[in-house]
Amino acid sequence: MVMIPLSFVLAISAVWAAPNTGNPNALWSCLSGKGWNLETVSNANYAKDSTAFNERLSFKPVAIVSPPDLNGVAGAVNCARTNNFKVSALSGGHSYAAFGLGGQDNQVVINLKNLKNITLNSDGTVVSGTGNRLGDLAQAIWDQGQRALPHGTCPYVGTGGHTSYGGFGLFSRQAGLLLDTVVSAQVVLANGEVVTASPTQNTDIFWAIRGAAPSFGIVVSWTYQTVPAPSTVTFQLGWSKSLTQNQFVTAFSAFQNFSTTAPNALGFDGDIGADGNGGISLTFLGVWYGAASQFQSTIAPFLAKIPAGYTLTANNMTWIQQLDFLAGSSSLSTAAPDTLAQHDTFFAKSLMTTGPSSQTALNSFASYLYSQGAHSDTNWFIGFDLYGGKISQTASNATAYTNRNAFITYQFYASSQNSNPPYPADGISFVTNMLNSLEPNPQEAYPNYVDPTLTAAQWKSQYFSTNYARLLSIKNSVDPQQVFSFPQSIS
Ligand SMILES: Cc1cc2nc3c(=O)[nH]c(=O)nc-3n(C[C@H](O)[C@H](O)[C@H](O)COP(=O)(O)OP(=O)(O)OC[C@H]3O[C@@H](n4cnc5c(N)ncnc54)[C@H](O)[C@@H]3O)c2cc1C
Ligand SMILES: *[C@@H]1O[C@H](CO)[C@@H](O)[C@H](O)[C@H]1NC(C)=O
Ligand SMILES: *[C@@H]1O[C@H](CO)[C@@H](O)[C@H](O)[C@H]1NC(C)=O
Ligand SMILES: *[C@@H]1O[C@H](CO)[C@@H](O)[C@H](O)[C@H]1NC(C)=O
Ligand SMILES: *[C@@H]1O[C@H](CO)[C@@H](O)[C@H](O)[C@H]1NC(C)=O
Repeated sequence: MVMIPLSFVLAISAVWAAPNTGNPNALWSCLSGKGWNLETVSNANYAKDSTAFNERLSFKPVAIVSPPDLNGVAGAVNCARTNNFKVSALSGGHSYAAFGLGGQDNQVVINLKNLKNITLNSDGTVVSGTGNRLGDLAQAIWDQGQRALPHGTCPYVGTGGHTSYGGFGLFSRQAGLLLDTVVSAQVVLANGEVVTASPTQNTDIFWAIRGAAPSFGIVVSWTYQTVPAPSTVTFQLGWSKSLTQNQFVTAFSAFQNFSTTAPNALGFDGDIGADGNGGISLTFLGVWYGAASQFQSTIAPFLAKIPAGYTLTANNMTWIQQLDFLAGSSSLSTAAPDTLAQHDTFFAKSLMTTGPSSQTALNSFASYLYSQGAHSDTNWFIGFDLYGGKISQTASNATAYTNRNAFITYQFYASSQNSNPPYPADGISFVTNMLNSLEPNPQEAYPNYVDPTLTAAQWKSQYFSTNYARLLSIKNSVDPQQVFSFPQSIS
């Protein structure tokens, strides 16, 4: 028998202890009677409140608490830590992997829905509680001062997760990712301390939360630097007749070629999907943030290279009209409860390319779409977003978020036919093969389209690259007990 020193056993067990093995009764007693709205499995609302946006996944938190203020958030973190439970923050609940519900069972979920203050200051900064969703934030800064921020289009996405892992929208080539606009944040750490993180205070934490906040603490408020809201020209382009496989490749190749020199004021996205007639549809969507009079000449070189028969629709809009248009809604308000009707049952993967994909890669991609995609038993789409511009003007080690060299970010997304469970058995392999048909050896992925099927080696390098080592060292100093722990946390 080999003798193993006791200190070694203790060190190992501290690191390898199974998560969430504390005593639930002790935890509940610590969390109750404090006005934090504790929900456990026996509460009437627990089933609804623990249902993930992505119903492909289901986890059972040991407790869901919704404190009224930051002191309650800190107190709830203390209860979890001292009782040996792991903690996840829940903001808008739109994590693709249900990480806001812990991504594993028996997590303490701290729901931030009561942290709704939004104050726009005279210097253009806005302090926003992380219970706010993108629609609440966008509407408030418009109403309070006709100001704007770059961020995604769905009003229900939470500012907590969205800012933590990036935050891309059509305005990002002009104004950066949402995390690039953060000038400071108030953070509850694993030891229950509330700190300000900024370029001059707690600078390691400030670096880490802009790209990996969920592993380092609970951000209770972000302070963003807003900009004056620009006027916009929104546009859409598509073909009414199905494109042949060759036409598809030509159109996509033209998009790539044009995009290598497109101005930063042009936000350019698109969608690929099954057209319902056994073919593939390709549509483009964009916003021009420059002078309206220059839109046509800006887009003309692209139009010159795409197959004939397209329709281009362009409209001049104010900033807020554009946000409503992109959201597909006449209101950005999320005051009504996020109902189950907005949930989905899906799997998605992402890919960030760093330059135009080769003609060979596009042919392989198109061949997969035309042979497999047109006949899948899932309801699928591929969204693609042009990156670059302001996003790429920040150094890859200036924030924890690192994939600054991205050219196009793709998401490959497939739902069940009716958006409800069960998820088709071949859905995950269908999506994975779709990505691999374009890029067999992916190097970079977008952390906000979090993919729980990536191996540890894959997510560490595809999300954080060489920034991972510094993240690990900061993690070991601010959260040595791994209080903020979930399947893809820094550890
Ligand atoms: C319909 C839809 C549309 C989308 N559109 C876009 C888009 O246009 N652009 C884009 O970039 N992304 C988009 N996304 C992806 C989206 O940005 C991410 O899913 C995002 O992480 C969701 O944030 P959340 O707060 O809603 O989710 P949650 O599930 O609440 O949180 C996500 C992660 O962040 C952690 N977290 C939440 N709040 C905090 C906090 N305050 N402090 C620390 N950690 C926290 C959670 O624990 C979890 O790990 C979209 C997603 C969906 C479902
Ligand atoms: C919101 O702001 C008000 C006024 O400043 C303050 O009293 C309140 O505590 C704040 N609420 C939260 C949840 O931060
Ligand atoms: C895009 O550029 C590549 C490389 O120069 C070229 O081979 C391809 O034909 C171009 N695509 C279109 C649609 O013009
Ligand atoms: C948008 O504004 C430009 C510049 O003022 C103008 O030339 C163009 O006709 C407008 N487009 C529409 C659809 O109103
Ligand atoms: C980023 O890398 C550059 C070049 O290697 C280095 O000079 C700089 O100090 C690094 N910055 C940070 C914030 O680590």
